Amino acid sequence: MQASGGDLLVRGQVLHFLDDPGEAEDARSMGWFEDGALLIHAGRVVAAGPWTQLEREFPAQRLAQARQLDYRRRLILPGLVDTHIHYPQAGVIASFGRQLLDWLGDYTFPAEQAFADPEVAQHTARFVLGRLLAHGTTTASVFATVHAHSVDAWFGAAQAAGVRTLCGKVLMDRNCPPALADTAQSGAQESAALIARWHGQGRLGYSLTPRFAATSTAEQLEACGELFASRADLHLQSHLAENPQEIAWIRKLFPRERSYTAVYERFGLLGPRAIYGHCIHLDEADRQLLAQTGTAAAFCPSSNLFLGSGFFDHAESVRQGMRVGLATDVGGGTSYSLIRTLAEAYRVSQTHQRPLGALRAWYLATLGGARALYLDQHIGNFAPGKEADFVVLDWTPTQEMDWRMMRAKSLTERLFALLILGDERCVVATHILGEARFLRA
Ligand code: GUN
Ligand code: ZN
Repeated sequence: MQASGGDLLVRGQVLHFLDDPGEAEDARSMGWFEDGALLIHAGRVVAAGPWTQLEREFPAQRLAQARQLDYRRRLILPGLVDTHIHYPQAGVIASFGRQLLDWLGDYTFPAEQAFADPEVAQHTARFVLGRLLAHGTTTASVFATVHAHSVDAWFGAAQAAGVRTLCGKVLMDRNCPPALADTAQSGAQESAALIARWHGQGRLGYSLTPRFAATSTAEQLEACGELFASRADLHLQSHLAENPQEIAWIRKLFPRERSYTAVYERFGLLGPRAIYGHCIHLDEADRQLLAQTGTAAAFCPSSNLFLGSGFFDHAESVRQGMRVGLATDVGGGTSYSLIRTLAEAYRVSQTHQRPLGALRAWYLATLGGARALYLDQHIGNFAPGKEADFVVLDWTPTQEMDWRMMRAKSLTERLFALLILGDERCVVATHILGEARFLRA
């Protein structure tokens, strides 16, 4: 544990981003300190830079008295940001079968019904938080179930783990098993009570969570929009344009709207702090609407490949001005690892002939995610004053990676090989507000 009041000095190969490197991979958006250091006080970054610069900037006595952590030869990145994950779906990862709508009915809804038992929720929340930390994730935007106590379980466990998180009770008042249905009124009331109980407590924030337009009546979406407009600091998360059958269904349910995106617009569900999972099958007008309203997309490549949903166009979405974060989407996604997810993102980007570069990829998993969630005033890089969440990575946890890294000629090449070959075996330590919350055995 970090001594309260004391400084923490962390040495290692420090990498963070100040902006999106873009398709051109502009290295000026990156801070790279091969012999680097982080000076942390009370859980926040005081300074990040080359060790020799910190030695010049800070009195020798202050540095000597700081608690020291030596991660030299390791890569230190800001904690990874998972912008869309369903904690109740931990038990349905890797369930075989068909596409989104069948998968929801066959596996997901039955699994979520088990969360009627608060103990199942608490046990699962602790498990998933442990997995996030073991995979280097320090911030996550999380779907609970329709049960209000599933949000209590998540926030309670997240508070104990120190993880920064957004979460909300799923709103769902039609087209689902009766045991999982709320009503427009009960959903809004329970959300309001959860907001009062949790929103803004430490690192916890409430995200209104209508599952998707197919499982909410117009009345429920309207009530959700009213809540979203009722205060300027609430978040919102849902799903959009994931799968062709889903989109056809939305067209039937909301025949008057120009598009699926327009349905959410009609109910006031777009805007800053709103983020939608998938956003695959959109046209230019939809992307413009998302960009102009400040609505973000959560790019979920492993889920999209697993469920056969399609190929999100990251480069085009960003070019049109959208905010985009990276997401595992467990249990549609097949891993908690945002490193593995980056490799999938790269493969998806290749289907558009606009390959995701290494710098842009690591930006996406850190500051890009923080910006997509509108949390970049707190997290995402090592700017002074930000919360000192970081992950320490081993470049060479396997012989194959060692062999490859020895032949890499540049930092970019190493960073690319790391995201393609790397996974949770790379995670040496995960620190939250300076403190180690996961250490590799
Ligand atoms: N659309 C509506 N609900 C879900 C869900 O739980 N997972 C995914 N991937 N898509 C959804
Ligand atoms: Zn999802």
